[in-house]
Amino acid sequence: MQEKLSSILSSYKGRKHELIPMLQQVQEEFGYLPEETMLAIARYAGVPESKVYAIATFYTQFRFTPIGETHVMVCCGTACYVRGAQKVLEMVSEHLGISQGQATDDMSYSLESVACIGACGLAPCIMVNRKVHAKMTLERISELLPKPEASKA
Ligand code: FES
Repeated sequence: MQEKLSSILSSYKGRKHELIPMLQQVQEEFGYLPEETMLAIARYAGVPESKVYAIATFYTQFRFTPIGETHVMVCCGTACYVRGAQKVLEMVSEHLGISQGQATDDMSYSLESVACIGACGLAPCIMVNRKVHAKMTLERISELLPKPEASKA
């Protein structure tokens, strides 16, 4: 991790206005923001760690826990909400056996609810590893997401 982190940080000058791009690139590399990366970014930019946390917690794009091999994002933006996003979230949650913000024990899946993903005409939709899937139903969820091994009866 240290080597990759150093390589990422060395592509920046360590200026305060680079904090968001640094956080984005670190998250892109590791899938989330491990605690040690937050401290390293703070030191590199010469700011208190609390400032890096303040920025990272302000923006919903940043996460502090690892994601599963398959990351499912259920859109709960307005268009999806009025077309049953809450029900979709419940169905996915029940199907995978995890709540939003959690990952399965085997790390095969993680689940997150997000604001609009920019495909409102396809509502209600979800994103699976960055690919949008439209007009979700329980059937479509079952087709798209094979049940995790641990929850198979
Ligand atoms: S509200 Fe779901 S894609 Fe826009």
